[in-house]
Amino acid sequence: MSPLYTAFLLLMAMASATPLWPGFYSETCSDAELIVREVMKKAMIREPRSVASVMRFQFHDCFVNGCDASLLLDDTPTMLGEKLALSNINSLRSFDVVDEVKEELEKVCPGTVSCADIIIMAARDAVALSGGPDWEVKLGRKDSLTASQEDSDNIMPSPRANASLLIDLFASFDLSIKDLVALSGSHSIGQGRCFSIMFRLYNQSGTGKPDPTIESSFREKLDNLCPVGGNENVTGDLDSTPIVFDNIYFKDLVAGRGFLNSDQTLYTFPETRDYVELFSKDQQAFFDAFVEGMIKMGDLQSGRPGEIRTNCRVVNTHHRPVDVLLET
Ligand code: HEM
Ligand SMILES: *[C@@H]1O[C@H](CO)[C@@H](O)[C@H](O)[C@H]1NC(C)=O
Ligand SMILES: *[C@@H]1O[C@H](CO)[C@@H](O)[C@H](O)[C@H]1NC(C)=O
Ligand SMILES: *[C@@H]1O[C@H](CO)[C@@H](O)[C@H](O)[C@H]1NC(C)=O
Repeated sequence: MSPLYTAFLLLMAMASATPLWPGFYSETCSDAELIVREVMKKAMIREPRSVASVMRFQFHDCFVNGCDASLLLDDTPTMLGEKLALSNINSLRSFDVVDEVKEELEKVCPGTVSCADIIIMAARDAVALSGGPDWEVKLGRKDSLTASQEDSDNIMPSPRANASLLIDLFASFDLSIKDLVALSGSHSIGQGRCFSIMFRLYNQSGTGKPDPTIESSFREKLDNLCPVGGNENVTGDLDSTPIVFDNIYFKDLVAGRGFLNSDQTLYTFPETRDYVELFSKDQQAFFDAFVEGMIKMGDLQSGRPGEIRTNCRVVNTHHRPVDVLLET
């Protein structure tokens, strides 16, 4: 990422376009949070992994031009959206859960609750329903009028990323090293594809050898799951308790049993190692830092005009320039 672009991102992170606060829908849609949580509960019963998949949306939405649900827009003939961006294609999933939340909300309070806020509420609910912390979220976001595949490609980190690259990326959003390590703890739930780890199993940094930091019996297990020439869509657990949000993820990193390179590097690099150790020993410290990080990440905004979408996958059709100005 160019220094100029990084500076732009930082400015963007500081521009506080719309004020956000916890009671935003208390008059206009007082049951909004209950409705979101109910749909998330049902989704979890249907498929436990789906809540992790929905939680991931917050990261992929907020880092790309702020938390504005740009991520949820389908491609159109004139716009390449973010769903097919490098980090998202064949990877992001459970968009249907957000659709279901939106449908329920439209029944009760049409045109009121933004898709951007749905992502923020649903991510919180995913964590709470998985045994992690519960917290109050700030609301009042608008949905974007556009999306950018190119911005997503430029910003979202690869699973190959090392801790120094991730530190710089997070710093460009005003997120600290502690935030980076705590937020990576989101990988306490969910799964990743063999595709995301083949290089570290067989050719780390072009050496033709595996990543030496993988504990050997864990590496055997991963080799069996992800053989050379096998189906790289096969998935493995991101930590040893993939449906419980806990600090086992950090204990696994200390033991050399991180699934992704970007995870294991947090223990290998001295800049991030102390936080991995702290969180591996003190689950409450992890939970507190995680909540702080999620709230900071949820504050990212682009300052661009927005609307309340009726369908999270498409922008509303009525826009004339004057409508956009009024909705800003
Ligand atoms: C620090 C940089 C990060 C990197 C490099 C990264 C990368 C990845 C990758 C490669 C996967 C597996 C995708 C696949 O194989 O298809 C994944 C899964 C996941 N990520 Fe991240 N991630 C990062 C941070 C975050 C953050 C901040 C969150 C949320 C707060 C998050 C939430 C998740 C979740 C919940 C999953 C599992 C999704 C599922 O099971 O469908 N990640 N991440
Ligand atoms: C992996 O999944 C994607 C879509 O999810 C599909 O297009 C591709 O063909 C699959 N690859 C294999 C080897 O099954
Ligand atoms: C971390 O990754 C970046 C980008 O791939 C690379 O330039 C850098 O040398 C790596 N740092 C270390 C210490 O390995
Ligand atoms: C390993 O990666 C390097 C550099 O990316 C590449 O030149 C080499 O062909 C790869 N080796 C194998 C066995 O894939």
